Amino acid sequence: MTNLTGKRIVLGLSGGVACYKSAELVRGLVGLGARVNVVMTESATRFITPVTLQALSGHPVYTDMWDARVDNNMAHIDLTRDADLIIVAPASANFMARLAHGLADDLLSTLCLARNIPLLIAPAMNREMWEAHATQRNIQLIESDGVTLLGPDSGEQACGEVGLGRMREPQALLTDIIQYFEKRSTHKRLLGKRVLITAGPTYEPIDPVRGITNRSSGKTGYAIARAAFEAGATVQMVSGPTNLVSPIGVSCINVTTAQEMYDAVVPIASQYDIFIAVAAVADWRVAKNFNEKIKKNKGQPPTLTFVANPDILATVAALPQAPWCVGFAAETHLLSQHANQKRQSKNIPLLVANLAQDVMHSDHTQVTLFDEAGEYALPAGLKSDVANQIIQAIADRMIQPHSN
Ligand code: C5P
Repeated sequence: MTNLTGKRIVLGLSGGVACYKSAELVRGLVGLGARVNVVMTESATRFITPVTLQALSGHPVYTDMWDARVDNNMAHIDLTRDADLIIVAPASANFMARLAHGLADDLLSTLCLARNIPLLIAPAMNREMWEAHATQRNIQLIESDGVTLLGPDSGEQACGEVGLGRMREPQALLTDIIQYFEKRSTHKRLLGKRVLITAGPTYEPIDPVRGITNRSSGKTGYAIARAAFEAGATVQMVSGPTNLVSPIGVSCINVTTAQEMYDAVVPIASQYDIFIAVAAVADWRVAKNFNEKIKKNKGQPPTLTFVANPDILATVAALPQAPWCVGFAAETHLLSQHANQKRQSKNIPLLVANLAQDVMHSDHTQVTLFDEAGEYALPAGLKSDVANQIIQAIADRMIQPHSN
């Protein structure tokens, strides 16, 4: 794609010197054929006038919630309902903080909160503001809500300091936006597919206050759920206890134990085209049900007996109407050997394996795919990027379905 003909973009400006670059961005977007509706915060209007952006976009510029030009007075809803994308450039530290916390105290923040379309933001701020712990915390929240950050770049800043925080140049942002649309058009490869995903750890109680769990954060499973949704699938996730919010568009059943996960997954699994078992399911649970806290018995530790949990993935793979199954394996050593054995013993077409010690709790991962033809290492990257590659790999293989 080298142009944006027919794309409908809402461009938001929050306050910052970089607003001058947004004028060129509007020109570029319009030049590539996009329809651009500009929305500005009050502070943005101190840096560049709405008149300039109206002239460049060819459309009225919106700055407040109560704009009488919108028939139903619902500018905060209407402006994005027939748009493909919102991009906020520049996104100030203050705007990002409001976005992270769901504040909706002006038109732009309300539009972002009420959106049902993707949001890209191009941060622009002084380097100290960018590095501030509060800003970094907000970035994590924003990204986990599915917002894509473009930049910032590093270099000389308007304040005279040098560092990370400059807004990306308009030409670079145009390339980012074109690539974003390209990626989305090739990414709808699971359109019409129903995908069931397990994610996170399970927690197996020992007694009412103690239990056994593992170090899975759920980040990979949630990233795969988001990637599957963005690829056009209808996605149902069944998640063990995590600190994560399920991605927009993904329905989630929360469970605690392996048995609960089994009970949630197995009865519905045949209704799905694809089952992706990302969860780190506990292999064992305590045999005896302690209803009361086990007391310290004069320093004598208790002896616990374990029983095996049911294998959810193997059970689903053996169903008469089994979905196309993908397993995960986190190993600490002999990755290929264990992964191949696991794929064969569970009788599944694809297994995704990684070295557990390298990736648990991290935002980055490196995985190797194992299928009947061999093994392929995917490039290391952010869990969100790797999740997209895994979804592409699944789509590739589903075109030539496994012989199971
Ligand atoms: O057998 P192992 O636990 O190593 O296999 C890992 C894969 O099997 C993962 O995909 C995991 O989600 C799945 N699994 C499961 N139910 C279990 C154990 C593992 O679905 N009880």
